[in-house]
Amino acid sequence: MPIIPKTAINGAITGWGRALPEKVVTNSDLAKTMDTSDEWIRERTGIERRHIGGTTASLSIESGRKAIEMAGVDPSTIDALILSTTTPDRTVPATSAAVQHGLGLRCGAFDVNAACSGFVYGLVTAHGLIAIGMKKILVIGTDTLSRITDWSDRNTAILFADGSGAAVVEAVEGPGQLLGWDIDADGSLEDLLYAEIGGTLYMEGKEVFRRAVRIMVDSAEKSLKAAGLTTSDVALVAPHQANLRIIEAACKRLDIPMSKAAWVGNETGNTSSASIPLALFDAADNNRLKTGDIVLLVGFGAGMTAASAVIKWKQP
Ligand code: ACO
Repeated sequence: MPIIPKTAINGAITGWGRALPEKVVTNSDLAKTMDTSDEWIRERTGIERRHIGGTTASLSIESGRKAIEMAGVDPSTIDALILSTTTPDRTVPATSAAVQHGLGLRCGAFDVNAACSGFVYGLVTAHGLIAIGMKKILVIGTDTLSRITDWSDRNTAILFADGSGAAVVEAVEGPGQLLGWDIDADGSLEDLLYAEIGGTLYMEGKEVFRRAVRIMVDSAEKSLKAAGLTTSDVALVAPHQANLRIIEAACKRLDIPMSKAAWVGNETGNTSSASIPLALFDAADNNRLKTGDIVLLVGFGAGMTAASAVIKWKQP
């Protein structure tokens, strides 16, 4: 549980952007091609529809451009691009290369793959780079899971979808936003959720569900402890949007009321790396956050990975 040194240069999110493909697939659409129903999917997952389409690069460029515009920064001054994705467009090179070019950046660019925990991994990495001298970092979380989903498998096809969320993180003088963080992985669990190269997603849903709740609670508690805070300090939690029931169970164990949870999974399905930024920035765009609010980001994903961050919101 690393404690951030008081002397560390810290950062703050100064702009953000979201991108979802135009094409919407409802639960009823899925029920036309597989043995499922709108009622079953809503009850077991909270998902009502999802957006499908685009490439990881195209969605990243869209959300990244919005984040850069909102932050009002000159793209040529961005020091690094971190793209979190588990669905790169090519095996080689990293998809961040295409995104960097598409956005007109000239900076270090690399992909991070920690599945649904990836955006928080990227955010934490960005703060590390800021601590050693960088000033402006673009962190993007994007996935196009529809491309590795077996659309005849009702165990997975009802869950996964496409989307992107991006943030510009800038170095700040004095206190920054990041108060506590945790990243973790248990590779012994990799067979619970995987896709071979060129293949589609296989998932042991029940086991993932069971472990997800425990993993989220554990990671959240570590980050809050590192920040010297408790769950009663949290104004908003932006959890990985995998399944509303997982979020409800985790919030119950953390003693955080559901009214403080950001939930967009009904509209987006599970967009993996994009899920936490989509939830966080939906809340920000809908005036659910004000300067000084304590926000808990917490995710889990294939690996199995976990990540959380406690940030003190600063309204740009
Ligand atoms: N429609 C209708 N019936 C279904 C469907 C479906 N889509 N899927 C399963 N069923 C049936 C099952 O066959 C079973 O029938 P039976 O009782 O006759 O055997 C019954 O419904 C219950 O099935 P369960 O698998 O027990 O359903 P459960 O309540 O566990 O929900 C789900 C399944 C939604 C997959 C849940 O386990 C889940 O969300 N797990 C976590 C998944 C997750 O978070 N994955 C993302 C990880 S993050 C990442 O890295 C991408």
